[in-house]
Amino acid sequence: MKIIDIGNMKASAVSLGCMRMSALDEKRVDAIMDTALEGGINYFDHADIYGAGNSERLFGEYLKRHAGVRDKIFIQTKCAIHDGQFDFSKEHIVKSVEGSLSRLGVDYVDALLLHRPDTLMEPEEVAEAFELLESSGKVRAFGVSNQNPMQIELLKTAVKQPIIANQLQFSITEAGMVTSGMNVNMKNAESVVHDTGVLEYSRIKNITIQAWSPFQYGFFEGSFIDNEKFPKLNEKLSEIAERYGITKTGVATAWILRHPANMQLIAGTMTPARLKEICNASDITLTRAEWYEIYRSAGHCLP
Ligand SMILES: NC(=O)c1ccc[n+]([C@@H]2O[C@H](COP(=O)([O-])OP(=O)(O)OC[C@H]3O[C@@H](n4cnc5c(N)ncnc54)[C@H](OP(=O)(O)O)[C@@H]3O)[C@@H](O)[C@H]2O)c1
Repeated sequence: MKIIDIGNMKASAVSLGCMRMSALDEKRVDAIMDTALEGGINYFDHADIYGAGNSERLFGEYLKRHAGVRDKIFIQTKCAIHDGQFDFSKEHIVKSVEGSLSRLGVDYVDALLLHRPDTLMEPEEVAEAFELLESSGKVRAFGVSNQNPMQIELLKTAVKQPIIANQLQFSITEAGMVTSGMNVNMKNAESVVHDTGVLEYSRIKNITIQAWSPFQYGFFEGSFIDNEKFPKLNEKLSEIAERYGITKTGVATAWILRHPANMQLIAGTMTPARLKEICNASDITLTRAEWYEIYRSAGHCLP
C-alpha cells in the first residue's frame, strides 16, 4: 500500500469511505473491514450523516469487537450538513463531533472535515469550535470538503490550525480539476474553471485532495467500470490492466494515484473482492503516456 503524508499522519493512499456501510449487517462489516486492514488501509472516512449516523455506529461496534484496531488507524469524520442546511456554527460543529465520538465509541477523531461550504459561516465561530475541539483532545486535525481556495483562505483568517485535507469529487470521468488546467485561455467548455484552481492551490499549500466517488460518473449515477456508456474507456482500462496483471478498477485507482498532487482515494465499495483490487493497484505507477491515453479514452480532448 502506498503511504502518503496527510498533516502529521502517515496515511494509506487508499482510504475506505464508509458512506455505504450503513446498509451492511455485522458479518459484512467484518468482511469489508478485515479486507481493508489486510490490504494496508489505515484511514477511514465518515460523516455524521452517513446512514443518519448508522455508518459510524456500525464502525464503532466493529471497533468494540476488535480490540486494538483503533490505535492502528486514523478515523476521519465530517460535519455541517443537517436539516436542509449547511451549518458552520460553533454550536453545531461541537455537537456534531460529540455525536460522532459517541457513535464511534472513541475518545477522539484524527481528522474533522467541514462537509460542504456554509455561505453563512463566520470564520471566528469556526475557529472557536476548532480551538475547543483541539484543546479538549476530541479532534487532532482539521480539514474541509468541497471548498474552493478562497473559501479556505477566508476560513484561515481566523482558524489557526492547518487545513490538512480537502475532499473533492475526482475520477477519470469527473476530471474537471485537471481538465480546466489544460485548457487555460481557451473558449471551449473544458476551459471553464469550476473550482478556482483548487488543484494547484492544494499542491502549493500542502493540502491533501481526497478524491471522493473515484469510480462513479456524474453525481452517483453509477460506476463507469464495465459500463456500456464508456466503451473506449473500458477497452483502454482492460488493455492496461492486462499489462500490469490487475483489474480495470485497479487501473482506475492507479490513474488517480499517479497524479503528483499525491491525492488520497476514498473508495466506497463494500465488496471485499473489489476493495482488494483497489489496494493491489495502489503501488502501480502508470506511465505518462498511459495516464493521458486513459484520460482521452474517457472522451476528454486536449487542445
Ligand atoms: N465529501 C463529500 O461530499 C463526499 C461525497 C460522496 C462520497 N464521499 C466519500 O467518498 C466515499 C466514496 O464514494 P462512493 O461510494 O460514491 O465512491 P466509489 O468508490 O466511486 O463508488 C462505490 C460504489 O460503486 C459501486 N461499484 C460498481 N462497480 C464498481 C467497481 N468496478 N469498482 C468500485 N466500485 C464499484 C460500488 O458497489 P459495491 O459496494 O457493491 O461494490 C459502490 O456502490 C464515500 O464512502 C464517502 O466516504 C464524500
